[in-house]
Amino acid sequence: MLTAYDATSAYLGEASGVPMLLVGDSLGMVIQGHDSTLPVKLEHIIYHTQIVTRVTKHAMIVADMPFMTYNASLEQAMTNAGRLMQEGGANAVKLEGGEWIAPTIRQIVQAGIPVMAHIGLTPQSVYQFGGFRVQGREVESARHLLRDAAAVQDAGAFAVVLELVAAPLAQMITERLDIPTIGIGSGPHCAGQVQVFHDLLGLFPTFGPRHARQYTDAGAAVQAALTQYVEDVKTGRFPTMEQAFGMNEDILAAVRADGAEDHADR
Ligand code: KIV
Repeated sequence: MLTAYDATSAYLGEASGVPMLLVGDSLGMVIQGHDSTLPVKLEHIIYHTQIVTRVTKHAMIVADMPFMTYNASLEQAMTNAGRLMQEGGANAVKLEGGEWIAPTIRQIVQAGIPVMAHIGLTPQSVYQFGGFRVQGREVESARHLLRDAAAVQDAGAFAVVLELVAAPLAQMITERLDIPTIGIGSGPHCAGQVQVFHDLLGLFPTFGPRHARQYTDAGAAVQAALTQYVEDVKTGRFPTMEQAFGMNEDILAAVRADGAEDHADR
C-alpha cells in the first residue's frame, strides 16, 4: 500500500503495481504543510479521494477518517464513513485506535463499509504519545497492543496498520491474527507494508523518517531541473522555436501589411 493524494501520485502508484492506495491524512503534512495530521478535515479527504478514484481503475482505494470525525459518537462515525464512500468513492475507510474504537469499527462494518484499523503510534494522538516513538517495547504496552490487535480483528476490520511497533512484537501480532497486518516502521514480518509517497521518493523537503527507504532523490532532481528552467528563461535558451508554433507566411505578410498601413495613417 502507498499513499496517494492527487492524480499524479495515484496514476504513478497504480501504474507501478501498488494494489492498494491510501488517501492518508498524512496529506495534512506533505500536501497542506502542517506539522501534524490534526488540522485535516473530512472535506479534504473527500476532495482528494475523489481525485484518486477518478484516475485509478484497479487499485483498492482506502480513505482515512481524519481526527475527530469518528470519535464523538457512533452516529458521527457512521455518517462520515458513509460520506467517504458515497462522495469520495472510496472502497474502504481507515481509522485509528484499538480496543476503545472497536465498537465503532463493528458498527461501520455492519453497515457494509470495509474498515482498515490502525494501531501502534497513531499520529492523530501524537501529543498523547509525546512524539513519534516506537510502541510496544515495555511489557504493559506490548500486552496493550496485542489486545488492540485482537479487538479490531474481532470487530470486523479486514486489515490493520501497525505503525512504529517494535519489529518482534509486530511479528507476533502478525502470527496471531487472521487478518493481514500492514506495517509502517514495524519491520519486515508484517503481511504487507505501507509508505508515504513523498518519503519513498525524497519529495518532502524538510523530513525523511528513518523507517522509510528513499528510493530516489526526486526532490533534488526536481529542484535542479527547475533551477535550470529559471536560468534558461533568463538567458533566452528557453523557449526556442522547437517549443513554439509557426504560422502561414502569407497570413503573416497580410497582417504585417495592415500594421504598416496603420503606422502610415498615424
Ligand atoms: O495518513 C497516512 O499516510 C497513514 C499511513 C502512514 C499509514 O495513516
